[in-house]
Amino acid sequence: MIPNLPPPAGVGPGHPAPEFDPLEFLRLSPQDTLARAQAFYSEMNARRTTRQFSRDPVPQAVIEWAVRTAGTAPSGAHRQPWRFVAVQDGGLKARLREAVEAEEYKTYTQRMPAEWRAALAPLGTDHIKEHLTDAPWVIVVFREKYGVGADGTRIKNYYTVESASIAVGLLIAAVHHAGLVTLTHTPNPMGFLAELLGRPSNEEALVVMPVGYPAPDATVPRLTRKPLNEIFQVDRGSAGRPRIEP
Ligand SMILES: Cc1cc2nc3c(=O)[nH]c(=O)nc-3n(C[C@H](O)[C@H](O)[C@H](O)COP(=O)(O)O)c2cc1C
Repeated sequence: MIPNLPPPAGVGPGHPAPEFDPLEFLRLSPQDTLARAQAFYSEMNARRTTRQFSRDPVPQAVIEWAVRTAGTAPSGAHRQPWRFVAVQDGGLKARLREAVEAEEYKTYTQRMPAEWRAALAPLGTDHIKEHLTDAPWVIVVFREKYGVGADGTRIKNYYTVESASIAVGLLIAAVHHAGLVTLTHTPNPMGFLAELLGRPSNEEALVVMPVGYPAPDATVPRLTRKPLNEIFQVDRGSAGRPRIEP
């Protein structure tokens, strides 16, 4: 505990008093809590990034509900620094694919160092991105680097990458829960996406997420996920601080 220090700036006079509501919260039994935690893991463990999509349509309402879910994400100072642009127009998807493939071709043939190439080898990816024209929806997620006030002034945002990435995680979970598949696609560089989709210069594309049904013959790379003991530690663990050679 820090003894009697003056309150930090930003708390108290000069700022509107914060308003509070009672938290709406349903407390579950410990058994139900555990069962729900396990069931949710099972559901999410069945999620796979899918790179072959069916052209079957998906109603816009489903996309809207998934984006609403993404919009429930926590965000630094509650700035909600995200924008989801859902592309369904065939011509626009074709232009998007053409621009992405041009950049990806340069990345795969010129920009990609050997280490990156080796890391991607098990996934079998290349610069051809059929999913951008096959999937009925392509959601491009933008992060808002800073806000813009009614008078044009810049409004600082906080932790925009973290906040928008958490929203993307919720979007992925919502899409999976709805019975659809998606791919977290990060064409590199992505600067052209804001212009192509008419977004202002205070926004920057973060990921491209085709959403739809998998193609009937879709395959996924054979991957394993790290087990709990490799991703989880309670307190300080038992092995001391591991030395990692630089
Ligand atoms: C930040 C991020 C960027 C990714 N970028 C690409 C990408 O550009 N192209 C691609 O095919 N997959 C991309 N992926 C998907 C990963 O390759 C995939 O999540 C990983 O291989 C694990 O497979 P799984 O999602 O089926 O568990 C990306 C995933 C993340 C989280």
